Amino acid sequence: MADEGKGPGERPVRWGILATGGIAGKFVEDLAELPDAEVVAVGSRSLASAEGFAQRYGIPRAHGDWASLAGDPDVDVVYVATPHSAHQEPVRLCLEAGTPVLCEKPFTLNAAQAEELVGLARERRVFLMEAMWTYCNPVVRRMAELVADGAIGEVLAVHADFGIEAPMDATHRLRDPLLGGGALLDLGVYPVAFAQLLLGEPDEVRAWARLSGGVDENTGLLLGYASGAVAALTCSLVADTARTAVVTGSLGRIEFPRGFFHPERFVLHRAGAEPEEFSVPGPSNSFIHEASEVGRALRAGETESPLVPLDGTLAVMRTLDAARREIGLRYPGE
Ligand SMILES: NC(=O)c1ccc[n+]([C@@H]2O[C@H](COP(=O)([O-])OP(=O)(O)OC[C@H]3O[C@@H](n4cnc5c(N)ncnc54)[C@H](OP(=O)(O)O)[C@@H]3O)[C@@H](O)[C@H]2O)c1
Repeated sequence: MADEGKGPGERPVRWGILATGGIAGKFVEDLAELPDAEVVAVGSRSLASAEGFAQRYGIPRAHGDWASLAGDPDVDVVYVATPHSAHQEPVRLCLEAGTPVLCEKPFTLNAAQAEELVGLARERRVFLMEAMWTYCNPVVRRMAELVADGAIGEVLAVHADFGIEAPMDATHRLRDPLLGGGALLDLGVYPVAFAQLLLGEPDEVRAWARLSGGVDENTGLLLGYASGAVAALTCSLVADTARTAVVTGSLGRIEFPRGFFHPERFVLHRAGAEPEEFSVPGPSNSFIHEASEVGRALRAGETESPLVPLDGTLAVMRTLDAARREIGLRYPGE
């Protein structure tokens, strides 16, 4: 019983989930917290996997291929949660079917793939957004407002890192070049996106990495700006880093504790003043903020989110490409 068009109007937004892996499950669990959202279908490369996921989460319909989910008339928006190397194809299928998409980070394997999808979405006027949940987090938005209001003056430096240390065999997607493995695309995308939220696209990108098995496992980036601002960023698959961020300006600095990409709070140090702590009620380690933003945009008839603009996504992908050129990392088929 499809309504006219794809817009949800006043009823709950009907989500389709594309992939049945780890983050797809967490997204479905988080959506259950949103009163104006429901999951109506799941799609997978195999019907058995889709049916298993549907049973586990009480989802009414299971599709054994991506195209059937993309064309499901009862789905308002598809959440794409495949490995990075498998983002482009299902997003394209959805856009060609006229179905809005929220696609996991990193948006694609490289900027060329991202440009193709953004071009298609704009040509077809279909909603498309990268699932950069950090940009939708209320605490990050509060920080961005304060910075825009001049709370720390001119932003001169951003420091951020995201490293994990976990046992992973060679078949794990983060270790598999065929799946776009490595620290930079999976984890480094957060420090890069955070820096670019504050400083925009850099004029120069420098990077250094230790490569292993065809992926980067310990990586540093220096983003340079014609203004003289800099961002120093690291990511790792072999070191449990602090996962903090600091934004330093001419009049003070803002410090984020561990987990800067889904923060509960930050501390503002204005020059010559006592530190001020900021927090916002509600969950921080949750996908409800990005899902709410998608629902809001669909109801408003918007084809891009102002919180996660596609031009920003493209700029992040160009920086990741530039860093990969510096460290000599190419994926199969590139
Ligand atoms: N926002 C976040 O906090 C966050 C956290 C983790 C991951 N992510 C992103 O979400 C995406 C998926 O990550 P994940 O940790 O959920 O991965 P995962 O557990 O390995 O699951 C990926 C799923 O994608 C499907 N898939 C499609 N093509 C595939 C292929 N060629 N090889 C393997 N699986 C394939 C599989 O489902 P079927 O068998 O049903 O096709 C698989 O279960 C990544 O892009 C990652 O960066 C985001």
